[in-house]
Amino acid sequence: MDGTFSENDISGVVEADRAHIWHHLSQHKPYETTDPRIIVEGRGMRVWDQKGKEHLDAVSGGVWTVNVGYGRERIANAVRDQLIKLNYFAGSAGSIPGSMFAEKLIEKMPGLSRVYYCNSGSEANEKGFKMVRQIAHKRYGGKKHKILYRDRDYHGTTIGCLSAGGQDERNAQYGPFTPGFVRVPHCLEYRSFEQDGAPVENYGVWAADQIEKVILAEGPDTVGGLCLEPVTAGGGVIVPPDGYWPRVQEICRKYDILLHIDEVVCGVGRTGEWFGYQHYGIQPDMVTMAKGVASGYAAIACLVTTEEVFNLFKDDHTDPMNYFRDISTFGGCTAGPTAGLENMAIIEDENLLYNTTRMGAYMLDQLAALADRHSVIGQVRGKGLFLGAELVADHDSRAPVPEARVQRVVGDCMAQGVIIGATNRSLPGKNNTLCFSPALIATRDDIDQIVAAVDGALSREFG
Ligand SMILES: Cc1ncc(COP(=O)(O)O)c(C=O)c1O
Repeated sequence: MDGTFSENDISGVVEADRAHIWHHLSQHKPYETTDPRIIVEGRGMRVWDQKGKEHLDAVSGGVWTVNVGYGRERIANAVRDQLIKLNYFAGSAGSIPGSMFAEKLIEKMPGLSRVYYCNSGSEANEKGFKMVRQIAHKRYGGKKHKILYRDRDYHGTTIGCLSAGGQDERNAQYGPFTPGFVRVPHCLEYRSFEQDGAPVENYGVWAADQIEKVILAEGPDTVGGLCLEPVTAGGGVIVPPDGYWPRVQEICRKYDILLHIDEVVCGVGRTGEWFGYQHYGIQPDMVTMAKGVASGYAAIACLVTTEEVFNLFKDDHTDPMNYFRDISTFGGCTAGPTAGLENMAIIEDENLLYNTTRMGAYMLDQLAALADRHSVIGQVRGKGLFLGAELVADHDSRAPVPEARVQRVVGDCMAQGVIIGATNRSLPGKNNTLCFSPALIATRDDIDQIVAAVDGALSREFG
């Protein structure tokens, strides 16, 4: 877009939006007096709104999705061609892009072998929960059905996923929840002082051991699955401490608990590896992914499992119930895997994992330098192009700054033409982390512009 259209050209769209659109995660009262924002066009790292204003997008479409950036004709062309050839057939049959993308994905996920297609991160996680439940019924008389999830993690918007949701403010008013989901403590070392008994040394192993404590309290023969984000996203960009993951894996193996890693945000390059768990040398039993799989060019989500998990659903053909009795209508859309194939090819051809690692390290350094100038930044953390800056009233108490002030920083950046994110209405009293997830194509100049905007915003809000 070149900003040449006049505001009037789109006034009808704005009015239709105001009259009919129920925006996600939004309080609508302000739209009675101000225009809702409409994003009209995108190219690379940038989007333009209805007024023709250019924004540098530091959150990949608002919710860490557009990993390869906007305006990728290569993806659009491949999807167009495939839609004309065959747009859809139910997932009980195969498709050419479905098979080809599954093969390509599995190449990047040693130890895993089966891909189940569906259309959102929530849905993929629900499939994982259903598998744990069905295995419990088949193998353990229904007893080993409990699913553990972690404080501050998020797995999706359905009632099932909210039951596994570690964000109490996001969950509020949506109960009662599904039984059989049990919370384990978070592993955010910066806030370990709030956790009873947390040590200064070896916090990672201690935090993992808290999971074992929960398993023992519940009874290991009742726990079938553990669902964790590799790096917690909306709960504050929490990079697990050293020692955490190997111990988690050990605990899962000890008690025969399936390890389900939710890669909906981290998956397909965001952290500089194809998948977040691959930084930690662990071997999950199930992996879910969505957002970055096709960078938002088509709706696609996948649940990927080991052959062992798959075999549990096919080993007794005399049992009419012994298969995964699940379907996802839009899991049969061919646009998703077609876009997924091109998305992965772009990441490979443009060496974007390397760029993510390099630019992620640069951005972490730049944010750390910002923290030296702004005492309101208590900690910066991240992996690859997935970063957070936690804002606190002072370094001793680490008291979170109020959410309204964090949102003013976000608003100030928006006014400067830079879109950043923040934890919002998720964690009671702890929505104090600025979030950054620029596309994997980000350059130093892009990062400098993002950091400069945050610098200015922090100065205006906190002095
Ligand atoms: C870690 C994680 N899991 C699952 C989901 C749910 O994905 P979706 O919105 O596609 O259902 C999200 C969404 O933000 C997420 O951040």
